[in-house]
Amino acid sequence: MSTIRLDKYLADAGSGTRSEIKSDIKKGKVLVNQVTATRPEQKIDPDTDVIQYDNRLIRFAPYEYYILNKPAGYVSATKDNTAPTVLSLMESPRKDLFPVGRLDKDTEGLLLITNDGALAHRLLSPRHHVDKTYYVIVDGIVDETDIHAFANGLSIGDEDLDVALPARLIVLKTDQSEKKLSYVSVTIQEGKFHQVKRMFQALGKKVLYLKRIRFGSLSLPDDLPSGEYRELTEDEILLLKKLSFTD
Ligand code: URA
Repeated sequence: MSTIRLDKYLADAGSGTRSEIKSDIKKGKVLVNQVTATRPEQKIDPDTDVIQYDNRLIRFAPYEYYILNKPAGYVSATKDNTAPTVLSLMESPRKDLFPVGRLDKDTEGLLLITNDGALAHRLLSPRHHVDKTYYVIVDGIVDETDIHAFANGLSIGDEDLDVALPARLIVLKTDQSEKKLSYVSVTIQEGKFHQVKRMFQALGKKVLYLKRIRFGSLSLPDDLPSGEYRELTEDEILLLKKLSFTD
C-alpha cells in the first residue's frame, strides 16, 4: 500500500497548482472518504481512499509501472546530452518516470520504469539483494573454475575491498570451434557499476553481449520486442512490492 500527500495527489491529477489546491483544501473544498480535509499534507492511499474536489470524484493512478525491453544504444537515465535515453522510447505524458537502476548503454533487456520512488528505493537497496539475471555471451570457454569463482564472490575492483557477493553462473552452451564462445546466464544479487563485465574481467574474460532477462519477480516477456514496453499487470506490481518488503 503506497500513500501520497493529498495536495500532491491532486496536483498530479491535474486538478490545479499546488498552491491553488492547498488554498482550496483550507477552504474545505476537498473531501477524503466523505470527511472534509483540512491539511494539504494529509496522507491518502489512492487505491482505497475516495477523494472529492469541488464535488467531483477524482480518479487518478498516481503511480505507473512499465517493463521496457531496452535496446543497445540507449542510456538508462532521465537526461543525457550524448545519446537518447530509455525514456525517449516511452509515450507516457508523465514527466516523473525514471528507470529503476541502470543498464549500460550497450546492455539490452529488462528495465523497470516507474515514478514510484519508494518502491525503486527498496528494490535497489543493497539490503534487499534483489536477484538480477543476465544472458551473457563471453569470449572464451567458461569452465568449472569460473563457476566456483562466481559462487565464492569475486574481487572486482582495484582493491580487494570491492568484492561481489556470490553469484550463480550457469553455462548454457559453449562453441568450441575456433571462435571459442560461451553462452551463459549469471544471477547477481547487487547492481554494482559494470558488475557482470567486471566479474568476467576479473577472470580474464570479456563480455561480448549482455542482456538482462530477470529482475526480482519480473521476467522479460518473450513477446516484448526490443524497444517496446508495456504496463505491468496488477499481479506483477503486487509481487514486486512484496519482494521489496522482504529482507
Ligand atoms: N552488469 C554490467 O556489466 N552491465 C550492465 O549493464 C548490467 C550489469
